[in-house]
Amino acid sequence: MTHPLRLGIAGLGTVGIGVVKIIRQKADLLAKRSGRPIEITAISARTRAKDRGISLSKYAWEDDPVALAERDDIDVFVELIGGSDGPAKEATEAAIAAGKDVVTANKAMLALHGQSIAEAAEDKGAALRFEAAVAGGIPVVKALTEGLAGNEITRIIGVMNGTCNYILTRMQSSGLAYQEVFAEANALGYLEADPRLDVDGIDAGHKLSLLSAIAFGTQVNFDGVRLEGIGRISIDDITQAADMGYRIKLLGVAQKTPRGLEQRMTPCLVPAISPLGQLEGGTNMVILEGDAVGQIVLSGAGAGEGPTASAVMSDVIDLARGIRVPTFGMPATELTTAPVAQSAVPAPYYLRFTLQDKPGALAKVATALGDAGVSINRMRQYGHDAQTAPVLIVTHTTTRDALDHALAQLPATGVVATDPVALRIEEL
Ligand code: NDP
Ligand code: HSE
Repeated sequence: MTHPLRLGIAGLGTVGIGVVKIIRQKADLLAKRSGRPIEITAISARTRAKDRGISLSKYAWEDDPVALAERDDIDVFVELIGGSDGPAKEATEAAIAAGKDVVTANKAMLALHGQSIAEAAEDKGAALRFEAAVAGGIPVVKALTEGLAGNEITRIIGVMNGTCNYILTRMQSSGLAYQEVFAEANALGYLEADPRLDVDGIDAGHKLSLLSAIAFGTQVNFDGVRLEGIGRISIDDITQAADMGYRIKLLGVAQKTPRGLEQRMTPCLVPAISPLGQLEGGTNMVILEGDAVGQIVLSGAGAGEGPTASAVMSDVIDLARGIRVPTFGMPATELTTAPVAQSAVPAPYYLRFTLQDKPGALAKVATALGDAGVSINRMRQYGHDAQTAPVLIVTHTTTRDALDHALAQLPATGVVATDPVALRIEEL
């Protein structure tokens, strides 16, 4: 066997410790598969004294991840700190400047700075790999950059945030309200330190923007992702969607259209019998469509120690084998800047709002929709109190622009008591 691949690991939390465990427990297997041993030389975290459940005393320690990244005795810097800026970015950039390869699980950093970091890496001849940053244990980055490299990718669809899928499926199975299930997810430790990253769709939007870059050969454009969270989904929405044969998912869709690159991460209704509709709990699913291959469906654990460390190790083993693939599947300088599609392709929409229960109220709403060219397909009014009545409407296929125009007219009708919830119905 040739010389070992020497790692410096910064961040010894859930993922970092998972990586250390795999390297220790499977040393022989990894060496056979890689053609050389994989060794940890040095490590870094915030608090040296913290009990991490395993002994780390045989590795050199650095308080400063930048110092770790610059050590002469490491070949690969493994960034598992997290955060779009701060120490993760500083250390990653220092590693690249020192000519080291980098493996990271940090979707926030790459969604915001992926283009400049990838260009810097290529300039230095260093590799930058991020399998673990998207959909945890699912090898979707590898699928796009390698397995499907001979395809024009036509569309990516997916559920890429396990916490949101847990909340939505738990609401469905328990009949509990959003706030109760949110509290439950929090108690189970599912939510990010800043829960808005999960429930506002930001984390999943980061992931979608990274997959888009590979799929469409475009520079990462997280700002171009239309984001909407799940915080306004009520148990009524879940129940009503189920009655109509749908489930509500925080769904990511990216596709190139004649109007530009469409990227959205929004709650949508999907057919209950579809693979996405059947997706339960914290599992992720990514559907890739290519012109030659057709549709492939990948699903599995999107987070957690083992699944995420598994993805980190896939990048590490590639580097040990000498496999070097450009960060986004082609040189970063070749990535184009696609215009952002200002509106999504037309679709039917589900609307929920509360109407003042007085004569002519519904007619005013129907007129506002009709004037904007939005046609009603189905409608239901139920369980109203003395003054107001919840109303559910399913529209015929319409553009989001027309719908937004109609919704903007509703306050002027003087009969709508709450801001409408509008969810796209995605026929898969
Ligand atoms: P944790 O919060 O569990 O661990 C973060 C680690 O970074 C800790 O060990 C912490 O040190 C260390 N750290 C924080 N600040 C510094 C610093 N200034 N210098 C050195 N070390 C520092 O995070 P995770 O393991 O969950 O996540 C790591 C990365 O993986 C993130 O980018 C995350 O988005 C990504 N990821 C995580 C998944 C998961 O399931 N957890 C799934 C997919 C991706 P200390 O322990 O001493 O506080
Ligand atoms: N918060 C993320 C999720 C973790 O729920 O999927 C992994 O990115």
